[in-house]
Amino acid sequence: MQKAALNMSRRPFSSTMVNRHGHVHKPNPGEELHVTFITKEGEQIPLEVAKGDNLLDIAQANNLDMEGACGGSCACSTCHVIVDPEFYDKMEEPDDDENDMLDLAFGLTETSRLGCQIVMNEDLDGLRVALPAMTRNLQARDFEKK
Ligand code: FES
Repeated sequence: MQKAALNMSRRPFSSTMVNRHGHVHKPNPGEELHVTFITKEGEQIPLEVAKGDNLLDIAQANNLDMEGACGGSCACSTCHVIVDPEFYDKMEEPDDDENDMLDLAFGLTETSRLGCQIVMNEDLDGLRVALPAMTRNLQARDFEKK
């Protein structure tokens, strides 16, 4: 009984399968990039990451609370992050697919992006992103008439 309780406390926040987590690379020595996630509770989580990894994979590999329901295919808004304005303009513009999904996100802001579409590069070294208080995963039944 006690063992079961211990296992429960170690469960990651994400509800996606564990074997889909952790698609991140170890940064080469001297080539580490830095990103800080700010959790819903306001805790700051600084991480060293590799160029080419996206924020969804990074968050899930570090057991941060980012669902990523569509697995990074730009078909949900559960990887919504709010980007520090200092870095927002350093990113490429969101494409139409990303904008369509962002329109469905709770708590959309001027600097909202989808984490799965943000790929780390040298320009984003030091990036800070906040995880919104809520995300929404729309499903077909959400559109059914009640
Ligand atoms: Fe679904 Fe990013 S994980 S859009």
